[in-house]
Amino acid sequence: MRKKLIAGNWKMHKELNEAYNFIKSLSKEINEIKNVDVAVFPPFIDLQIVHDTILENKIAISLGAQNMYYELKGAFTGEISPKMLKSVGVEMVIIGHSERRNIFNETNDFINKKVKSALENEIVPVLCIGEKLEQRENEETESILAEQLTNCLQDISCSNPNQIFIAYEPVWAIGTGVNATPQQAQDAHLFIRKLISDIWNHDIAKEIRILYGGSVKPSNAKELLSQLDVDGALIGGASLDAKSFSEIINIAANITK
Ligand code: PGA
Repeated sequence: MRKKLIAGNWKMHKELNEAYNFIKSLSKEINEIKNVDVAVFPPFIDLQIVHDTILENKIAISLGAQNMYYELKGAFTGEISPKMLKSVGVEMVIIGHSERRNIFNETNDFINKKVKSALENEIVPVLCIGEKLEQRENEETESILAEQLTNCLQDISCSNPNQIFIAYEPVWAIGTGVNATPQQAQDAHLFIRKLISDIWNHDIAKEIRILYGGSVKPSNAKELLSQLDVDGALIGGASLDAKSFSEIINIAANITK
């Protein structure tokens, strides 16, 4: 049984006071939920206050970062290291988000180095992969997913399925309001699980959690999260409001597959 993870990717949203208020409000909504894992991924500047507010309110939320560099320290102006993230209580990190790939030109090779570094530093990577619209229209979805996953996981071994998450995020569904249909999500997730079985092994593939991301909101969460191979959601827009984020968490908590 794979426990669902509901993860909020805040992207470049929320200043300090907004981050603080969000965690305060969320703590009132979700203190009873035990069968779903919850994580938030605030901007770097908010990590400390989110960490402290989570502790203060004794809520079961994991703290994640949206990105990191793979070196531990040095002359890398503007970058953040895994050790710096750990020093503010970060447990997880999003790597290879399509906005990093497409706006900041991150390649599979670069992403591979970051995944390795996260694992070496005991931060759980949430590795994002997904096809663009024209690739889906050209029936290249599976080949793109295979290329991204294989290259991003090159020379990485895995003995514990909880040490990494995969997020399937079709680029055409991110921030557009158009989500993948539950069947499209299920097909892609099953394909990814088979790839994981080839890359690592069947036991890891059975246990690894694969999240869906792309326009998840309270109105479509139930259908998407009910799919057999959808083990949670990575949510942008709808995670910014404590009410809609907690609604999705509650929906996930009520699904039994
Ligand atoms: P969205 O973003 O929910 O706003 O579509 C998802 C993501 O980019 O992780």
